Amino acid sequence: MCGIVGYIGKQQAAPILLDGLEKLEYRGYDSAGIAVYDGEQIGMKKAKGRLKVLSELTHGGETLPGTIGIGHTRWATHGEPSDVNAHPHFNKEQSIVVVHNGIIENYLKLKKKLQAKGYEFVSDTDTEVIAHLLDYYYKGNPLQAITKIMHRMEGSYALGILFQDHPDQLYAVRKDSPLIIGHTEGGCIIASDVPAVLKYTRDVYFIENEEIVCMTADTMEFYNVDEEPIEKSPTHIDWDVDAAEKGGYEHFMLKEMYEQPKAIADTFSPRIRGQEIVIEELDMSEEEIRAVKKIMIVACGSAYHAGVTAKYVIEGMARIPVEVDLASEFRYRDPLIDRDTLLIVISQSGETADTLAALREAKEKGSKVLGIVNVVGSSIAREADTVMYTWAGPEIAVATTKAYSSQLIALYLLAMKFAEVRGVIGKEELHGYIEDLKKLPDQVEMLLNNKNRIQKFANRYLAAKDVFFIGRGIDYAISLEGSLKLKEISYIHSEAYAAGELKHGTISLIEEGTLVAAVLTQEDLYKKMISNMVEVRTRGAFVLAVTNEGNREVERAADYVIYIPQTNRYFTNSLAIIPLQLFGYYISVGRGCDVDKPRNLAKSVTVE
Ligand code: G6P
Repeated sequence: MCGIVGYIGKQQAAPILLDGLEKLEYRGYDSAGIAVYDGEQIGMKKAKGRLKVLSELTHGGETLPGTIGIGHTRWATHGEPSDVNAHPHFNKEQSIVVVHNGIIENYLKLKKKLQAKGYEFVSDTDTEVIAHLLDYYYKGNPLQAITKIMHRMEGSYALGILFQDHPDQLYAVRKDSPLIIGHTEGGCIIASDVPAVLKYTRDVYFIENEEIVCMTADTMEFYNVDEEPIEKSPTHIDWDVDAAEKGGYEHFMLKEMYEQPKAIADTFSPRIRGQEIVIEELDMSEEEIRAVKKIMIVACGSAYHAGVTAKYVIEGMARIPVEVDLASEFRYRDPLIDRDTLLIVISQSGETADTLAALREAKEKGSKVLGIVNVVGSSIAREADTVMYTWAGPEIAVATTKAYSSQLIALYLLAMKFAEVRGVIGKEELHGYIEDLKKLPDQVEMLLNNKNRIQKFANRYLAAKDVFFIGRGIDYAISLEGSLKLKEISYIHSEAYAAGELKHGTISLIEEGTLVAAVLTQEDLYKKMISNMVEVRTRGAFVLAVTNEGNREVERAADYVIYIPQTNRYFTNSLAIIPLQLFGYYISVGRGCDVDKPRNLAKSVTVE
């Protein structure tokens, strides 16, 4: 996501900050800024676009004097990419300045309270709330003000903070967003990621949740949220720069798979208030939600697969007819949609040419368009009538994992909201779904931690020529995505089939040893699926099954079984996809493919 660098020491801060931010460029960003304190005033420069713009603006940092400062590369979440929304953010007197990674979930509530007390906001960001909140609580003691705001903020944050009253101190704090600190020669450096500090030190302190650090040029003091001093010891990092960029993982894809629990939680938490689903950005009254006659979902690639899952979830849970289409088809078929159709376009990048064209087509026909988008301020986000953002953060690997997983969550939330408003599900059922949603991050983590078993299995199939994925209902949607993950990064031919269709042609392709991955998470379809598995197995297939814990019966029809933890029938995709992502990943690694940049593919397809 965004990048943070902070420095306090004996050298001029700005060039060090710019250099550190440059090391974080690989993470993706849309604007950058630095604030430097020269002992009298805090100077700040921010610019939309590349870091180069900021560097030119400050002559490589030279025009900003001072030996203490904070810098930031922003990946927009709240508010479009712009100079104003770029970090750092000041309080009104420009005596407190903040950079922030993460999302403050209750920022609107806090903003309203601060506005009522006379605070004026200049940006659309959640971060500006932090600067004003600090101002509100600051009575001369920075540590006290920081712990006070920690009690008020919900969500995730890593912060670098300067107080004009304390010209020889730099403060940092974090919760659920990484932050590390190390010594430089004659100073201290903080950063959100290891690559920014490697030039200075390999011994870093990982700030843990709700820990605060106060730095001077010579000292580092750590505190807990009760303002009590704590002892910490450094960790030695022996990663090279390449590994450091990937957080120590071998590939971005693996790193991003491991970021899924957070992407999932970040996408649902701001939209769950107590026992209610609140999707403010939906901008639809209950009456409008009840008036929807049809939902049309349009997307490409994995986003389309998320849409196929959503068809089953929304139709099942909210009883609204859903049609799903590939954007490249939809745009040329003069689709039958009108004012009563809600069009949902799903896109990680927000720039996919076919999806954008489909959006324009639908708007022309009078449909309301809701975008489910990961990149704030992207073309689709700008042109859709309303946008529901997925909070997956920047995705670098071409094969999507965490963006896809967070798209599913956004779609579940919509289904739950629509089902409740339309009276199809009662409060109790809704609460059950909310509880299941909250369990998903840990369940996904557990499945990821089972990676060695999947790697072992994958190593047996490195030479496979064809792999088939089969499933029924939602499991068919999972199969589509599992098959795409495998083929796009390993170059092994793979197809997904609705299991009932096998007998109409595909079964003739099954030979001795062909791998068939069968997904069966829908209890009422177990028996049907087991029959299909037996059919392929008797023709020589080796059957890998992905199914719910407790479905022991499957073992009679499968050669290898991966169990996923219990959830409700609609959320199983979020769990079953994890072993399939890992399977595709390890096959690709084992075959020596370029996992993060597969041949012939692009992350964002902005041409037709
Ligand atoms: C490309 C990517 C896929 C992605 C698809 C749609 O093919 O490789 O991972 O699913 O585009 O992209 P979007 O940005 O619209 O989600």
